[in-house]
Amino acid sequence: MNKVIGTDVSRKDGRAKVTGTATYAAEHQIPGLVHGYLVTASIANGQIKSIDTGAAEKAVGVIDVFTHKNLPKVFMPTNDFVSSKIYEARLPLSDDKIHYAGQIIGLVVADTFERARDAAHLVKVEYATQKPVVEAAKATFKEPPQMGEESKFEKGNFATGVASATTKLTATYKTSTEMHAPMEPHAIIAHWQDANSLTVYEPSQWVLGSQRTYAELFGLPSERVRIVTPFLGGAFGCKALPWPHGILCAAAARKLQRPLRVVLSRRQMTANSGHRSETEQTMRLGATADGILTAIAHEAKSCTSPVEVYAEPCTGVTPVMYTAPNLQLKQELAVLNIGTPTFMRGPGENPGMWALESAMDELSWMLKIDPVELRLKNEAKEHQRKDLPFSAKHFADCLRVGAEQFGWKDRPKQPRSLTRDGKLVGWGMAASTFPGLRGKASVKVRLLSDGTAHLLTAGNDMGTGAYTVVAATAAEALGLPVEGIHVELGDSLLPDGGLAGGSKMTASLVPAVMAACEQVLKTANAKTAKEAFVTLGESGRAAIEATASSAPDDEAKKWAFQSWGAHFCEVSVDEEIGRLRVTRWVSVMDIGRVINSKTAASQVRGGVIMGIGQALMEECHLDPNIGYPVVYDLATYHFPTHADIPRIEVFFVGEPDLNFNPAGVRGVGEIGITGVSAAIANAVYHATGKRIRDLPITPDKLL
Ligand code: MOS
Repeated sequence: MNKVIGTDVSRKDGRAKVTGTATYAAEHQIPGLVHGYLVTASIANGQIKSIDTGAAEKAVGVIDVFTHKNLPKVFMPTNDFVSSKIYEARLPLSDDKIHYAGQIIGLVVADTFERARDAAHLVKVEYATQKPVVEAAKATFKEPPQMGEESKFEKGNFATGVASATTKLTATYKTSTEMHAPMEPHAIIAHWQDANSLTVYEPSQWVLGSQRTYAELFGLPSERVRIVTPFLGGAFGCKALPWPHGILCAAAARKLQRPLRVVLSRRQMTANSGHRSETEQTMRLGATADGILTAIAHEAKSCTSPVEVYAEPCTGVTPVMYTAPNLQLKQELAVLNIGTPTFMRGPGENPGMWALESAMDELSWMLKIDPVELRLKNEAKEHQRKDLPFSAKHFADCLRVGAEQFGWKDRPKQPRSLTRDGKLVGWGMAASTFPGLRGKASVKVRLLSDGTAHLLTAGNDMGTGAYTVVAATAAEALGLPVEGIHVELGDSLLPDGGLAGGSKMTASLVPAVMAACEQVLKTANAKTAKEAFVTLGESGRAAIEATASSAPDDEAKKWAFQSWGAHFCEVSVDEEIGRLRVTRWVSVMDIGRVINSKTAASQVRGGVIMGIGQALMEECHLDPNIGYPVVYDLATYHFPTHADIPRIEVFFVGEPDLNFNPAGVRGVGEIGITGVSAAIANAVYHATGKRIRDLPITPDKLL
């Protein structure tokens, strides 16, 4: 049998992407396409007093102008994850209220993009303005009305636990508002074949979810809606559900009965396509002199928009990482006049690990215990919130292998003791974690008489490598070369592949691909695909096909599934100019079975790079007077480029997690970013003796 799983198969979609033949949403060529340009609010709080579209309507090429006064009917969907879900719990143009700067207040449709954009600027709006609240420091924090799990948790008694500690730490850590900034901007083409049949070309991490949601929005059965997303140009949680611009585009296209395209500018994306909320987290730790935790308290605050409840679930990682008999978690949320925040790579886990892993480092210095040792001493044996043992956990191996690969044992025990070329050098480490998630997925496999196998599922590849992982799994299961496998993804006409989110696409699809391949061989009454092709040739038929599904059973009642990791890094700091460089990086991950060593390592590297951006550069302030973001494009919003990134070495440890699924694979999309910013801040402390507790670590904080 040919061994493909676990090897470094190159991307199936690589050539299409680098040669520009991969078709992204806005690039689909639809005859008769017309163009929409959004009109957005220039105030952050208040009401539209009047909106004058007269000049815009008369402008050359303009076909129609939509505002809250004339938007065609759109229905409110159920808006739960089961049947339908929109990002923002308010339909676009549903009234004259303004909740945040940049909110969509109209759409101008014209025969060209330029004419639509030009006319959009002719729309005259008068507002009744109220002072916006855009600073978390001035907002009121309360327990959020809804979260994935309860916003509060208590085990034991924190006060008693901390009283019994000999070493105590209280510290507050902050993160900034972060933009998703995927390479492919948000865009949609809505094409109605008739008043009741819609095709949507949109970057969607979840075409079957979008299909149901658009169907509900327009009062149609889902069969009447097709979502087409063969490729996404990056998505980190911001392309999973319809945003207001998509709903508005589809509504306008239905009225006009013309295919309509709406593309957002980078500036429009700052308000209308989600961000990661800023957070403020207070950690309180108590430990005995030999480094055993007696108590942990983790309190987190984040902000949402006036039109959606989204609390960044920062405290979720704490009961997973370290055992403490007394554990207390609390989340609070405030409403700001800001666009709606949402999931962003490691939502909750990422800022949560920033706080927890910074605090653990601070505690290790107080205790004079090596930070790796401190983590090994307190490693959780079970999920303290679920009361379940972890399945296939190899966190300790991540720490040991990472320390060895990095050369951690040579670390000087004092801050400011390493220098190179006149700069201070520091070493830091932090742990990494993300839950193992999985959903139901269905896959169709077709063996064709030309000797190729076609794999079809609606699941998406948002740049993570799903095309390649599906092909490699099928190649191994069928005994065919990877080149002989064709994969089609991201079309709601195909069998439901589930959501590309929560790092679960691989864990969901791979078992389904295995099941479908097994099924098709059974159907062909063959042991291998080659045997099936002979049967097929003799029969004169075009293809033999089979569809199979794989879904989680009740294993989650017995086990807590979690992926683990450790980051080790070196930084250099030029104190004279506050320049911080990350100069060396080692990451070790336990993600269960690795399906593709190349794309898996690439996901970890991507996570580390994104984490370096969070640690050093990414922030978005709003002008306190007008409420507008002071960053608005890829020049003003800083994130890493090649020159900022060192060589990133990635290692995998662990074993197939067969309690989780028959393939033993967990996910790897998100874990890489978790702990990165803490590892860097911990290295900065080692280099400089300065503890930075608010991100990003910009030069002014190092001077
Ligand atoms: Mo991810 S934040 O689940 O797309």
